[in-house]
Amino acid sequence: MPEYEYVLSRADGGVGIVTLNRPKQLNALAGQLMQELVDALERHEADPLIRAIVVTGGPTVFAAGADIKEMADSSAVDMLLRSRIGMWDRIRQVTKPLIAAVAGYALGGGCELAMACDIIIAAENARFGQPEINIGLIPGAGGTQRLTRTTGKFVATDLVLTGRMLGAEEAFQRGLAARVVPPELVVDEAVRLGKELAEKAPISVRLAKEAISHAFERQLDEGIEFERKLFYFLFATQDAHEGMHAFADKRQPTYAGQ
Ligand code: CAA
Repeated sequence: MPEYEYVLSRADGGVGIVTLNRPKQLNALAGQLMQELVDALERHEADPLIRAIVVTGGPTVFAAGADIKEMADSSAVDMLLRSRIGMWDRIRQVTKPLIAAVAGYALGGGCELAMACDIIIAAENARFGQPEINIGLIPGAGGTQRLTRTTGKFVATDLVLTGRMLGAEEAFQRGLAARVVPPELVVDEAVRLGKELAEKAPISVRLAKEAISHAFERQLDEGIEFERKLFYFLFATQDAHEGMHAFADKRQPTYAGQ
């Protein structure tokens, strides 16, 4: 396994385990972290001994979203040309089941990363949310699309427009989390589930994932592309830069509608 700076990658039996490892910044999804994550996933995807992949941040924090400080000075054109969000398309191309083991914050891109997986196991301390609205943005990696399909329009609108967080129990009730376990067991439970899937007929597992993705993600391309363009557009607004800088400066933002 290659050495990464922000990601740990290992295998246990037939299960690949990719752990986000940038704890001081609450696993904020910096460009380099995303590159390492996608590389680690693709290596497990290419390894014939691996049958399922766990994505986790460990028992404390999953990920607090895209790296706001890294994006704060980006223009809409920077965002379009850099196309960091394009890396998310590569996660969608993984054919092996992805199991998200979520403890602590899974916010913004963190919640979107969990939803890009196939099964979410939530620790009792998990906090899901799409708080981009609070910094003058909207979700940019599929959140508006996948959350709406998961919870329905009305709950998704409440979540995306207010930025409020869901605890593990509500996430379970809303169909986001399949299971809820104590934080210290969340990774073990995900690996145990991965090993259970590793015992099944691999082609059946692959095609079952593909069939469910067809139901869930059909016509998602169009929605994701639409959301992405709106997300980039917001980087042309003063309010988004005010929101991101206010976050970095630890102050309340003031929005002018510009
Ligand atoms: N980007 C960059 N840095 C982040 C971050 C993020 N998303 N989230 C947390 N951090 C950093 C903080 O700046 C802080 O760094 P310093 O110690 O260097 O100051 C460190 O992580 C610890 O965070 P806090 O001090 O803020 O911790 P807290 O416990 O007081 O609050 C929190 C935790 C509520 C999660 C708060 O950090 C927070 O609101 N984070 C931002 C959440 C957010 O808005 N996410 C959406 C990002 S945009 C996005 O994801 C777009 C997309 O769709 C792809």
